[in-house]
Amino acid sequence: MKATASANANIALIKYWGKRNEELILPQNSSVSVTLEGLKTVTTVDFDKKYKKDNFTLNGKKISGEPFERIAGFLNIIRKMAGSGLKAKIFSKNFFPTATGLASSSAGGATLALASSKAIGLDLNKKGLSLLARRNSGSASRSIEAGFVEWEKGEKEDGTDSFGKQVCDKDYWPEFRIIAGVLNEEEKKTKSRPGMKQSVQTCPFYKVWVENSEKQAKQIKKFILEKKFTKLGELAENNALMLHSVMFNTILPIVYFSEKTVEMIKAVRKWRASGLECYFTIDAGPQVKIICLEKDIPEIKRKLKGIKAIKKIYICKPGDGARLINKHLF
Ligand code: PMV
Repeated sequence: MKATASANANIALIKYWGKRNEELILPQNSSVSVTLEGLKTVTTVDFDKKYKKDNFTLNGKKISGEPFERIAGFLNIIRKMAGSGLKAKIFSKNFFPTATGLASSSAGGATLALASSKAIGLDLNKKGLSLLARRNSGSASRSIEAGFVEWEKGEKEDGTDSFGKQVCDKDYWPEFRIIAGVLNEEEKKTKSRPGMKQSVQTCPFYKVWVENSEKQAKQIKKFILEKKFTKLGELAENNALMLHSVMFNTILPIVYFSEKTVEMIKAVRKWRASGLECYFTIDAGPQVKIICLEKDIPEIKRKLKGIKAIKKIYICKPGDGARLINKHLF
């Protein structure tokens, strides 16, 4: 049977970086994100006896090697859950740049969980979908839900309490915006999976990162619910800088920053000092995302026009979670 799902990427305000269980993808700390309207992935999955093996096409390109093995491993989890031996054909399309730190894995993983579970005949609720999406990519567990979402790290060894929970829906804070500026569309060098594993093993202050982020996840939920923008922005910026300190202090160092990243950080701080309230966050790529409110978009857009390094911008408000759609990709 065939099913198609659409989901939006999410950007974490408090980040996930490191697992306590590699196989089940259980995080060391809780993380909090915003699911963003417009950073969309669509995935069609068809399970049928006519397929002799699994195959996966992303943005029109047939995927092989390690990325394909990951998908095949995920399909095995689904097959086991459904008691099925059927092979699958998968087509996936990102409507924004892939693997450049714009969180394409979060949207992709969420669509894959929803479309493949439906196509194989499972009917999962949001918790079940998030638990499943997590097995594909940790951040995908947060893209099942709309709006602001917390991925609670959970305590259980089997991971059944580690999934994305909505903090508040997309309409709770409609003025909230994240501007994703694309600086460089080249695919990143260090993938997050091996990168975070290295950080857990070698960063001398990794434990401090975990304790601090766990505390910050609690604080930011409060700031979201109280719509305390200044506090939220300061905290998100601090968490992102600490994440990159962990990366820099990993052996071998992981450096996602480019010169343009630093230029953007400086620009945001300068604008803020002049009274334009905005903050930045950065993930596993050179892109700088600007956290701001709707009222300041025209001025920030005007200022961004003056930065040559930016190729493209996406202005995103809190968006929908994963959903099934009727328009199949094949
Ligand atoms: O879920 P992954 O393996 O794509 O890792 C995501 C890591 C960060 O984007 C850097 C942080 C996060 O919480 O999204």
